[in-house]
Order: sequence, then C-alpha cells, then structure tokens
Amino acid sequence: MAQNSRELASLFQGFSKLNLSERLARLQNLGLLNSEDLDFLKKGGMRDFSLGEKFIENVIGYFQMPMGIATNFRIDGRDYVIPMAVEETSIVAAASKTAKWIREKGEIQTELVGHEIIGQIQCAKVKNFAQFQTQLMAQKTYLIDLANREVAFGLVKRGGGVTQLEVREIDRGDGSSMAVVHIMMNPCDAMGANIINQVCEFLKEPIEQLTGEKVTMCILSNLVDTRITKARVILSDIPADLGMKIAEASLFAQRDPYRAATNNKGVLNGIDPILIATGNDWRAVEAGIHAFACRDGAYRSITKWEWTGKQLIGEFAAPLIVGIVGGVTTLHPTAKLAMKLLGATSAEELSRVAAAVGLVQNLGALRALTTEGIIEGHMKLHIKNLTLGAGAHEKEIPLLIKKLEEILALRKRISLSNAVDALKELRSSNSPP
Ligand code: MEV
Repeated sequence: MAQNSRELASLFQGFSKLNLSERLARLQNLGLLNSEDLDFLKKGGMRDFSLGEKFIENVIGYFQMPMGIATNFRIDGRDYVIPMAVEETSIVAAASKTAKWIREKGEIQTELVGHEIIGQIQCAKVKNFAQFQTQLMAQKTYLIDLANREVAFGLVKRGGGVTQLEVREIDRGDGSSMAVVHIMMNPCDAMGANIINQVCEFLKEPIEQLTGEKVTMCILSNLVDTRITKARVILSDIPADLGMKIAEASLFAQRDPYRAATNNKGVLNGIDPILIATGNDWRAVEAGIHAFACRDGAYRSITKWEWTGKQLIGEFAAPLIVGIVGGVTTLHPTAKLAMKLLGATSAEELSRVAAAVGLVQNLGALRALTTEGIIEGHMKLHIKNLTLGAGAHEKEIPLLIKKLEEILALRKRISLSNAVDALKELRSSNSPP
C-alpha cells in the first residue's frame, strides 16, 4: 500500500492524545486499515486455536501482548507507521517522541551491506585439513551449482540462491583440526533458516564423498556478518552540550561491557517489538546482534554517537535478518496486519526500518539518561500500571494518577507501595464518616 507522506503527517498529528476508537478510526480514514481489520482488532485479535496448533505443540491458549504504533518516523525520506508489540511502558512513546525530534532536526538513512546468510557444515575432526580444503575448493562451483539446482532453485528464480562456499579450520585444542564449511546464500525475501539448513544437509553426502571425511552436523549461523544492516541518524541545530553528553554516553557503552549490555538492550527495545509484531524470529536477531557486538573479543555497543561540533551523528551496524515471506509472517493475521500498516515490501526494507527504530530508541534513551534521567519520563507513564497493580477501580484511576504524579514530582521516585497507600488514603477520604 502506498503511504503518502502528507497523509501520514496528518496521521501522526496528536495521535497519542486519541482514545483507542479514535486511533483505529484515523487509521481507517487514511486507508491504512479496513473495516475487517478494525473488527479483528476490536475483537481482541487472533482467537482461532487451529492456527496456534499449527505453529507450536501442546497449545493451551494465546499470550496477548499490546500492539501500538510508533509515529513520526521518516526513514530514507519516507514516512512509516511502525507497529510495535511490546509489554514495556514508554517504549512506543519514547520512539515516537525521538522520531519527532529527528523529523524536526535531522534525518534517518539506512542501507543493507551484503545479501548472503551463512550455513555451517561441521566435520568435527578431519584427518588432513589442507587436503580437505583443496578438494572442496576444487569442486566449489560444482557444489554451489548442485545445491542451487537441487534445493535452492526457487530462490535462484527470484535472483537469490547459493553464491559462495568457504572452508575454515578450527583448532580443536587437542593437536587436531575441525573443518567447517560455510555456505553463503541470498534468501531474497525469506529469513532463509529452513532453506539454508536444507542446503547444508543436502551437501553433506557430496562433501563426504569428495573428501572421505565425516560430516557431523549442519545448521545455519546466526552470526551473519555477511549481511549487515546499517542505520544512521544525523541531527543538526541541537544544543552542543546535549550533543556532547550523548557522545559521552555512547563512549561509555563502547568501552564498558556492563554499560554496553544495557545500551544494546535499549536498542533492542526498538527492534524486538517490530519483529514480534511482524511474526519474525526475534531470538535469532538477538543472538546475531549480541554475537556481532563482541566480534573483536570484547562486548561493545552496536551503536555509536559522535558530536562533530555541529552535528550529532549516530550509527547502528549489525546483522538483522528478517523475512516477509514464509514462517509465521504470512500466516499470523496480526503479523499480516502489522506488515500492511508498515508497508515494507521486502525483507531488506523491513530490516532497515527495524535498524532505524533501534537506533532512534537508543537516542531517546541516551537523551533521557543524560538529561532528566530515566525515572521521570518512564515513571510518569508507568503510573497507570501502578494504579492497576494497587487494585484501583476504573473511576478511582484518574484521581490516583493525579495523586501519584504529585508524589513523583515531590520525591522523584515512586513505587507500588506508594500507590497502595495513596489508594487507601483516597478511599478513606471518600468514605462517609
Ligand atoms: C530500559 O528498558 C532501556 C534503557 O536501560 C536503555 C539504556 O540504558 O540505554 C533505558
């Protein structure tokens, strides 16, 4: 669906102030959702157990997660509605707020570098690694053509398929060698897990016959350093002290693994909700990102922010492998709806958008952490959860929220026990003498 920039700017206007029905009506008026989609969402989403039974085993129900949309995103000059399925308060709000800031003061650019995913074929202990390597390299083109002809022919038709074969030697630590064959494959718009695993298992026999060695296992690698998604944010005309503080916070995450872990969690706060909403394998992406984050031996930030004196420039670079065909993506009705809202037409585009949102989420966190601190914004939004946790009824909630906001402003901290006490006080002051 074509998403016109002007229309989306009107969608974004005051979206967070609308109630649920108004939000849905606005999405419908702009042609982003139809009446069937609205019915589906209003009825609580997917309820059909037969689908759940197809996805996993021993089904006993569904786990419902709220899905919201982050607004104000303009990526590579195009406006996007970002669907996010997530349970944590303030992620959607922070993403939208930070995207608005960038919309006013800068831009977001993205790119994909490389197309291939990686499959691994292991020979746990080879008799002669040099000979194994020579034999396989001599037959490389034959093996690639064979895999493309027999297994990956569908991908080849779409411009993808197996493109490369490499052999790595791994020291077993007992004086002998392990050999690992890497198969590179362009999965086009699929995430590619099933097809690369099939290719690797198919190649097991020819490799054993050609080399006389024993193949011990075959599986894809989640450390896909051959297909890197990059996002870049450039902000101009912002206060120099803020730019410097954010760059300092970024240096902290580049140099200290304790901080890097939390920084990267904040980046994934932006990425995972999109992966979940679109039915993608977020565990695979998490594994790939964390492995890539420690590729030089130390765990580091996957984002970097620099203050040039005039501009704040942020960069994200990591594997972010997703698909828009196959798997749950095209079967789960909510994932289909999320894809329709997002309007990404290729796996590459979905990956670039997710990387951009991760980088923006990181900027939002660093901005909050280096200025007002995380508690203020986070807790303001978290107060509603506290009122529910304390057991407030619908009518009591607005009064309790007001009371808790006063406590937060005064003490700069707030907890569930504050909410419980404030509710007790509210009830006793309202009860007849
Ligand atoms: C909380 O979910 C995420 C943050 O901790 C990220 C960060 O510290 O950069 C705020």
